[in-house]
Amino acid sequence: MYESIVRPAASWLSGAAAVLALAFGLISTHVMLAMIVSYVYVVSPFTGGQGDGGVSMDHDNPLFLNTHPLCMVLAFCFFMPEAALVYRWLPAERPTKKYVHAALHSAALISSSIGWYVKWYDDEYTTGHVHFGRMHSHFGLIALILFYGQYLAGFGMYLFPGAPLDDRPLYSPYHKFVGVLTISLGAIAAGTGALYIQAAYAENVAINDDNQYYTIWLGLIAAFTAVAVAIGVLLNNKPVKRDLLLNN
Ligand code: HEM
Ligand code: HEM
Repeated sequence: MYESIVRPAASWLSGAAAVLALAFGLISTHVMLAMIVSYVYVVSPFTGGQGDGGVSMDHDNPLFLNTHPLCMVLAFCFFMPEAALVYRWLPAERPTKKYVHAALHSAALISSSIGWYVKWYDDEYTTGHVHFGRMHSHFGLIALILFYGQYLAGFGMYLFPGAPLDDRPLYSPYHKFVGVLTISLGAIAAGTGALYIQAAYAENVAINDDNQYYTIWLGLIAAFTAVAVAIGVLLNNKPVKRDLLLNN
């Protein structure tokens, strides 16, 4: 009897794509980590590339504002993608994966809140910066609101007080979709933030090689990471059996 090769080929392709996406996602989050640390030291975006670069939590130090890109990229382009991918590679029981997932999102919560505080403090009374005057801050705000909502909903559904086990699979597709959406909008925010700094340099100083290099790669790697997370999470999306869901 004739057997179609379409079904096994499609299943092989989707399996291969999921493995590649996972490998790429895990590599790109670490590349992003190295890039954002060197970005705040080498380009030092908020000091106009002058001086040694770095970050500071002291309001009076010009390096204070560099803390914003560092903390935001750590949250949206490192902790969140890592948390989403944990379900795909950690060789552990589901409850353990859930606690690691929640811990990584809690790290993102702390980091993004510090990043937001830094820009919140930077207002027209202190530095002359007007809030929400650019596309970047609007994308950033939407990403932050989605993240806080997603964190609260995930916490309430899966940790405390926790929804009944039978109801969790009803919420699960929304949690996954909004999670991927949040990470994608975070990637757009990271790209537009770096792009704005590049444009500001062009007005004030002239774009230098380091600035141009980091702007291109920060944006591209953030976007590729989000795509890898989307493929890793949405492909290979088999329903979880009820017995596995126990304390899921
Ligand atoms: C995922 C990453 C990021 C998110 C979610 C994010 C979010 C935000 C938000 C919400 C604001 C507005 C804060 C306010 O006015 O109260 C803002 C402002 C700003 N951010 Fe980011 N940011 C991110 C990454 C970056 C990066 C990588 C840079 C580049 C250096 C950057 C540079 C800026 C600048 C220059 C402002 C002030 C200008 C403006 O209001 O648009 N951000 N960011
Ligand atoms: C403390 C808060 C959170 C808890 C307790 C939690 C819990 C969970 C659980 C139990 C799953 C597995 C669902 C299933 O397979 O049916 C899951 C998956 C997922 N969560 Fe969360 N979550 C939280 C916050 C977040 C946040 C803030 C995001 C995104 C920004 C997020 C993104 C995702 C994604 C993308 C998946 C799919 C992972 C995969 O299947 O590979 N979660 N989460």
